[in-house]
Amino acid sequence: MNQPKLKSKVACTDREIGEVTRVIVDPLSLEISHIVVGNGATSPERQVPMARVQEVTDALVRLRIHSAEMDQLPALKRDDFVTIHDVEIAHLEEKVHVESGEVLVPVPELEKDVKRRTFFANFTQAIGLVIGLPLAFPVLKYLMKPMYAPLDNAWLKVGNVGKIKADDVGVQFKYKKKVKEAFMPEAEVEKNVWILKAKPETLDKIYHGKDMEFRDASGRHIWTNKKDVPFVVYSGKCPHLGCGFKWRSHKVLGQVFLCPCHLSIYDQTGKVLDGPAPRALDPLPIKISASGDIQIIDMEFKAGTKTQTRIV
Ligand code: FES
Repeated sequence: MNQPKLKSKVACTDREIGEVTRVIVDPLSLEISHIVVGNGATSPERQVPMARVQEVTDALVRLRIHSAEMDQLPALKRDDFVTIHDVEIAHLEEKVHVESGEVLVPVPELEKDVKRRTFFANFTQAIGLVIGLPLAFPVLKYLMKPMYAPLDNAWLKVGNVGKIKADDVGVQFKYKKKVKEAFMPEAEVEKNVWILKAKPETLDKIYHGKDMEFRDASGRHIWTNKKDVPFVVYSGKCPHLGCGFKWRSHKVLGQVFLCPCHLSIYDQTGKVLDGPAPRALDPLPIKISASGDIQIIDMEFKAGTKTQTRIV
């Protein structure tokens, strides 16, 4: 089926009822999950699941429901969504072909009603453990084996320092990495990091006069970033909930790293200046070859925690 377009007319089985005002994208599958249908100011915009769409032509989206059923569909609660201008989702543009306009993504679940969900999750887990552990142990042991596979400390080339034209300015470097999730086939994913060439005073604030060591969970030394090497790399994931962030101009704070998901702001040393982020940006191991090629060790850390816990 064609993808619905913004502003297309929408018709139920009996009559035309409005137009597509927005589309909602599932951030995991990168497919359009709903269209939002509005008919001017007279009634709230309704979310229509794609399963209720019968046919999409260039000018018309035909639904398989009667107009009387529209009122039973959920009204759009704008606060439950952010636009794709506000979040960075890799490969979304390749998958969703809509004219410019509002494309919405649900606000991460983690942001909503955390306490209630945590209670139910813990409760369910506790009951499940008591009942199921003796039976499930051999299966669990097999399933959990990949979780204990050693983390990957391979060096990845992400670009060349020639791309960095000014000091203390965040520059994004994208790279591809082959990943193998437990029991899934290997896949290539696009990732990114932010690198800056730090002025001496910035380096001082990052390193506090000491080299930065990276060790694995057992304490084995992986690498040391030397305090006098001016190139610094930060993981591309915001430590709050893992969104992608940008290097932006801020009216008051000047040039900063800004995460648009929940507006965490970091300075060039990675320090949190504002917003809900619980810790500074995560520096990664970096080394520069004689010809200026940049290599990093791709690491990811648990989001939402004050301390760093490496997960990738
Ligand atoms: S993910 Fe929430 S501020 Fe970045």
